[in-house]
Amino acid sequence: MAELGVRLAGITLRGPFLLASGIWGESGESLAGAWRAGAGGVITKSIGAAPRLGYPNPTIEVYDQWGMLNAMGLPNPGIDEYPKEIEIARRAGATVIGSVFAGDETEFARLSERIEASGVQAIELNLSCPHAEGFGTEVGSEPADVERIVRAVVQRVHLPVIAKITPNTPDPAALAVAAERGGAAAISAINTLRALAVDVTLRRPVLAHGLGGLSGPAIKPIGLACVWQIYEKVRIPVIGVGGIRTGTDALEYVMAGARALEVGTAITFDGIGIFARLNQELSERLDALGYARLEDAVGAAHSPPS
Ligand SMILES: Cc1cc2nc3c(=O)[nH]c(=O)nc-3n(C[C@H](O)[C@H](O)[C@H](O)COP(=O)(O)O)c2cc1C
Repeated sequence: MAELGVRLAGITLRGPFLLASGIWGESGESLAGAWRAGAGGVITKSIGAAPRLGYPNPTIEVYDQWGMLNAMGLPNPGIDEYPKEIEIARRAGATVIGSVFAGDETEFARLSERIEASGVQAIELNLSCPHAEGFGTEVGSEPADVERIVRAVVQRVHLPVIAKITPNTPDPAALAVAAERGGAAAISAINTLRALAVDVTLRRPVLAHGLGGLSGPAIKPIGLACVWQIYEKVRIPVIGVGGIRTGTDALEYVMAGARALEVGTAITFDGIGIFARLNQELSERLDALGYARLEDAVGAAHSPPS
């Protein structure tokens, strides 16, 4: 069987499939559950400085098998409450990556220090939520802002810092280059795409917040394009995320340049057992193509055999 373990930004992952932030990761028990189900690591829900309720319902619209629209509004218990959940996941043996969101570099740095102290192995910066006023895309759409935020965090913490960037921009690779310049150890691409659903009977958006973020199989080609472009511009590893549901989806991302993968929406379609299936399917696909290690396939589509 092909070796799926990967080195990523100074940490060793037992497998390439990480639980994506915001799905299934609200509590320590659910993080631990994803780890037990075969995730190579788990990323927490994005945590902010203060507790947030998020937006009123409806916050989610599920499309039959091809996607999901959400505007949760970053609900979270805040940094004072969340570390005990991380502790539960760590006691289960999980590799935990802490995700944080903030409105400026000072807050990002402060939150990152706090989450570092909770015993996570890396920190992912949410620079890309498309529907939370004052956060996410609003602070992560300009390369100069991304570089400044990443640098401020890197100067304050010892852990590897992963910048999760937005696809809602003409040049995602420019954001990745800026994050690398700021000292990021890896890039995650992508977060959800800004999107809308309209209820024609009520004559209003389906989600209470109006605009939301689209995820799931529908966004896979966009995620792949972002990873492809970023891989050509940065030397740090890229984590592919967006619409991964099968081993073949994962291998597409790997060949486009991803060294690890995050899985979100597919869990809501297929259940947490998806991690075991993905490990199996990816391993089989690699074997069939003659790869002994996943790492050997990273970026393979950029220099196909002649
Ligand atoms: C309900 C929901 C909540 C999410 N919450 C977060 C979050 O808190 N922080 C974050 O960085 N990304 C968040 N995301 C984005 C996912 O981590 C991921 O980038 C995106 O959904 C694309 O991957 P997928 O198609 O596998 O779901 C959320 C996505 C969904 C669907």
